[in-house]
Amino acid sequence: MPRKRLVLFALFFLPVAAILTQCLSNKEIAATDPRGEDYTGAKTCISCHKNIDQSYIHTAHYLASSLPPDSSVHGSFFKGNDSVYYNDHAHIMMQKTDSGMYQASFINGQQVNRERIDLVTGGVKGETYLYWKENELFELPVSYDKTKSKWIVSPGFDTTIASYDRMVNLRCMECHASYAKTEPGKVASFSGESVGFDKSSVVLKIDCERCHGPGRQHAEYQFSNPDIKTAKYITRIQSLSQTQQTDLCGTCHSGTQTDNSRSIFEFKPGDKLADFKKRAASAGPPDLKHLDVHGDQLEMLKTSKCFSASKMNCSSCHDPHKKQHDEALYFAAKCETCHSNANHNLCKMTGKIDAAVLRSKCIDCHMPLLPSKAIVNEQQSVMIRTHHIGVYPDETSKILQYLKAKK
Ligand code: HEC
Ligand code: HEC
Ligand code: HEC
Ligand code: HEC
Ligand code: HEC
Ligand code: HEC
Ligand code: HEC
Repeated sequence: MPRKRLVLFALFFLPVAAILTQCLSNKEIAATDPRGEDYTGAKTCISCHKNIDQSYIHTAHYLASSLPPDSSVHGSFFKGNDSVYYNDHAHIMMQKTDSGMYQASFINGQQVNRERIDLVTGGVKGETYLYWKENELFELPVSYDKTKSKWIVSPGFDTTIASYDRMVNLRCMECHASYAKTEPGKVASFSGESVGFDKSSVVLKIDCERCHGPGRQHAEYQFSNPDIKTAKYITRIQSLSQTQQTDLCGTCHSGTQTDNSRSIFEFKPGDKLADFKKRAASAGPPDLKHLDVHGDQLEMLKTSKCFSASKMNCSSCHDPHKKQHDEALYFAAKCETCHSNANHNLCKMTGKIDAAVLRSKCIDCHMPLLPSKAIVNEQQSVMIRTHHIGVYPDETSKILQYLKAKK
């Protein structure tokens, strides 16, 4: 191109290009979101916060609910490993076809029921599957135990006969998804209390705005002001009070035995958890005898001296955007932000055992994996990390004996 024409070209096209890129970036703000006009969806957030997204997609929150093709169902569909047997006459076979993955129930070789895996919940320790019947969701009878790499009868299900009629209520979606609009159920039921969901309204996974609150105004502002590197119109979680921060996590991590007065889908950072739900009287007092290690990390943590004697919150140890399994040393370092020589509150075992062992076994001695009373798979309790931080003499002697044997 001759030089003059190039300049003309630039003069004419550059402003157009600039307008075009702006249009493009504004297009990245999703036009609608089922939660309302204040929301914009994770895709928008990710277009600017790419680093966070890269680690976030490996977290349990991302796995909390998903469609089967993108999360992949981990159990085996090969002959020999594809079935769960109730007895000599009854079993469930897992089937993979072009139209999806199915759980088919057989009695004496006759197929009596068959439903498709439409949604997957979980993916860290186990997976439980759901299927749609009309506008209602039901839990499927077979789950996958990832720790043992095998299909099992779904936790809490009858172990003598296959059942497909366990309805999934709003509570389940409130903790495992970002949104689901309820409507009257369309499947005839005896109790008359069935709840259905508007399928097109379901926002799967625990997404950015589930924790951060509606972010459309923030996204629009930052798009229109790309030179401004400070945030506007979004809550800064670190500046909330300890209770406000733990209430945010507690919307889903403070137990299932609760009386809910409002849907926790409406909870936004800064809100008070007590305005949404309270521990049910029937659940008993929130002491160690009545709490379970599963799903109740907030109440468990509150029974710990670390919590009552400090400004500790969940972020004192957890990075909500990162997968944090088997990182014993990472967590030990978190403990040491408060337990140090300078604070005169070091472990009483300091000097008695090797310093490296003290760190690598820190959480195993003081926050051991304990059996859940609530989730039992095939008569075996699922082991969950307790959030009652304390001294557990049994765990200590187990570890000390193991160390002795190794020498
Ligand atoms: C156009 C780009 C852009 C989009 C889209 C965007 N953000 Fe931001 N965000 C920023 C910038 C710039 C900052 C300030 C610098 C920083 O903290 O990274 C920020 C900061 C934040 C902060 C920290 C606030 C603080 O004061 O510490 C949060 C939380 C946040 N964004 C969440 C979100 C969520 C949730 C979404 C989606 C609803 C989103 N952002 C969409 C650009 C964007
Ligand atoms: C909307 C509900 C919800 C909120 C809010 C929530 N969580 Fe979770 N969280 C879950 C669910 C559900 C799981 C289990 C997901 C799964 O494995 O399917 C989970 C799992 C976790 C795990 C286990 C991670 C793993 O890899 O096993 C940690 C740690 C955690 N949450 C911490 C937090 C913290 C900290 C906060 C507050 C900043 C928080 N959560 C807020 C619902 C929630
Ligand atoms: C389980 C709840 C949860 C989810 C899901 C979540 N966040 Fe956060 N986010 C938090 C908490 C809590 C903090 C404050 C962390 C702290 O105290 O250090 C935070 C901090 C931030 C910050 C500011 C500090 C930083 O780490 O840069 C940004 C930006 C942010 N989140 C963006 C996002 C985006 C984008 C997504 C979705 C891809 C997302 N968050 C998903 C809970 C969550
Ligand atoms: C009050 C919130 C809450 C409700 C209600 C709830 N869950 Fe969970 N669920 C959690 C939390 C938190 C975890 C993970 C941490 C734990 O075990 O404490 C979890 C773990 C799971 C896991 C194991 C996940 C994994 O990755 O290993 C599955 C599967 C699951 N839930 C399915 C369901 C189903 C299906 C329902 C409804 C019938 C349901 N949950 C109801 C909060 C909830
Ligand atoms: C935010 C600060 C903080 C963090 C983080 C913290 N603690 Fe503590 N912890 C305390 C305080 C304060 C006490 C009570 C008084 C003292 O010992 O100084 C305490 C008490 C304890 C106790 C005595 C409990 C009892 O019932 O007598 C143990 C054990 C303990 N912490 C272990 C841990 C371990 C292990 C971690 C990491 C997983 C940890 N702490 C993280 C602040 C913290
Ligand atoms: C003193 C540190 C500390 C604090 C504070 C803390 N956690 Fe944890 N949490 C841990 C450790 C350590 C693990 C085990 C991580 C692993 O899998 O190796 C864990 C695991 C979890 C798990 C997975 C449990 C399992 O076994 O599947 C959930 C869920 C969780 N934390 C939620 C929370 C929530 C919600 C809060 C705030 C109410 C919180 N945590 C506060 C240290 C902490
Ligand atoms: C091998 C198990 C073991 C390991 C590893 C261990 N501790 Fe301890 N810790 C104990 C025992 C047992 C006690 C109580 C000793 C006593 O009372 O004589 C204790 C006491 C404590 C106390 C004081 C509790 C009190 O009564 O005042 C704190 C704080 C503590 N440990 C923190 C830690 C931290 C932080 C780590 C890791 C960096 C750690 N411990 C590693 C077993 C362990």
